[in-house]
Amino acid sequence: MRTQIVAGNWKMNMLFEEADDLINNIVEFVKTNELDNTAVIVCPPSLYLELATDQAFETALNVGAQNISNFESGAYTGEISAAMLASMGVEYVIVGHSERRKYFNESFEVLAEKVNVALKHNVVPIFCCGEVLPEREAGKHFEVIEKQLEESLFHLKKGDFANVVIAYEPVWAIGTGVTASPEQAQEMHHFIRGLVAQKYDIETAENTTILYGGSCNSKNAKELFANVDVDGGLIGGAALKPHEFIKIIQSF
Ligand code: PGA
Repeated sequence: MRTQIVAGNWKMNMLFEEADDLINNIVEFVKTNELDNTAVIVCPPSLYLELATDQAFETALNVGAQNISNFESGAYTGEISAAMLASMGVEYVIVGHSERRKYFNESFEVLAEKVNVALKHNVVPIFCCGEVLPEREAGKHFEVIEKQLEESLFHLKKGDFANVVIAYEPVWAIGTGVTASPEQAQEMHHFIRGLVAQKYDIETAENTTILYGGSCNSKNAKELFANVDVDGGLIGGAALKPHEFIKIIQSF
């Protein structure tokens, strides 16, 4: 059975004390609740990763980064490597988020390199894909997603691909309050699983965790997660409030 995941992408939010408090609340929740086949991940800004790994130590809470360098190590001022993350006990990293694609011009090629370097150091990439509104309106959303997966993920060998999590995040739904309908999410997740089956095999496809992201909150999570191909969520805004985030975890 594939793992269900709720991951919080904090983006560039929270000051130190707020971050400390939020992680604390989530740690308390995972300590006192049985999480059946569900992984909970927090992805705070890099500056707070150590705080998160310290608090999450020996609990069921997992920690992820929001970004890594596509380079291994060396003279890349300001960057953080996959090896550094691994050495800090960080187990996941978000790769290919639409905000990184848009504001930091991350190309298909750079994203493929990030996926490679993460896997090399046993950090699980949470690989994001998603179409913008004009692409959906033009009926091109399936081909856009296929291209994003082809270019940055499908070069992987089956054994490596088995360690990847996919997040479908329609860009028009991110931070807008407009969520994909459960039908739209299921349709795309089913399509993505089909692509994985075609590229690798049915078993690999069945074992791939595919998350939904984009204005997912405690009110709509249950309906979204009820779909057979939706294995959880990558949560932005709603991950900043402990009660909201915990309610989402309880939505399976
Ligand atoms: P949102 O962001 O939940 O605030 O829409 C999701 C994301 O960007 O991962």
